[in-house]
Amino acid sequence: MTAQISPSVLSADFSRLGDQIKSVAESGGEVLHLDVMDGHYVPNLTFGPLLVKAMRKMTDMVLEAHLMISEPDLYIENFIKAGADIVLVHPSTCSSVQDTLRNIKTLGAKAGLVVNPDEKLSIIDPYLGEIDQLLIMSVVPGFGGQSFMPEVLDDLPQMRQALVDNNVLVEIDGGINKTTIASVLGKGISRFVAGSAVFNKHASPGENFNTLQTLVTAGK
Ligand code: DX5
Ligand code: ZN
Repeated sequence: MTAQISPSVLSADFSRLGDQIKSVAESGGEVLHLDVMDGHYVPNLTFGPLLVKAMRKMTDMVLEAHLMISEPDLYIENFIKAGADIVLVHPSTCSSVQDTLRNIKTLGAKAGLVVNPDEKLSIIDPYLGEIDQLLIMSVVPGFGGQSFMPEVLDDLPQMRQALVDNNVLVEIDGGINKTTIASVLGKGISRFVAGSAVFNKHASPGENFNTLQTLVTAGK
């Protein structure tokens, strides 16, 4: 599979969200990253299933919901019914990680775990056989536009074979832009979340997407 940029709508202009999503889709974007925040697990509030449902009507792109919320189990079914194709949860928010992953898959979505900068990648070891995706946070979750933390990749080489053996897609989230992306290529990461580097005033979302996607495709 070709490595992909997954634009995070967190930095989009929500007053014209449909156009912004269309712009990346027309440039070949296949995945959209949806940052769901509850003002409790992280100190910021974004949106819930209602907006996911609206975005589902706007595009055929794969929708990945990154749940930065306490008690995700209460809401997973709503997000999947609203149209999320992939649900990513932080292990510390689940009362039973195993049950949460099974619940996501039983409801028909792909399941992934998210590791924060202050956590070891090895926390996902017990679940390697049960996840479709690993999301490595390269910023502290909560806000777009923060600086990339390169040290979050220190543990990746020793995990890489196990991730390949278990067919786990590796994704990185936070501070990815046309400068920092070079340092994350060639490490077994195949999806790159980019919020403020896609949705900004410098160029259209589609143009920014193209710039990043070209770097990823060339550097693979
Ligand atoms: C941060 C979010 C990210 C964020 C990335 O909590 O999980 O997905 O949107 O934004 P940038 O690309 O601007 O760092
Ligand atoms: Zn995210």
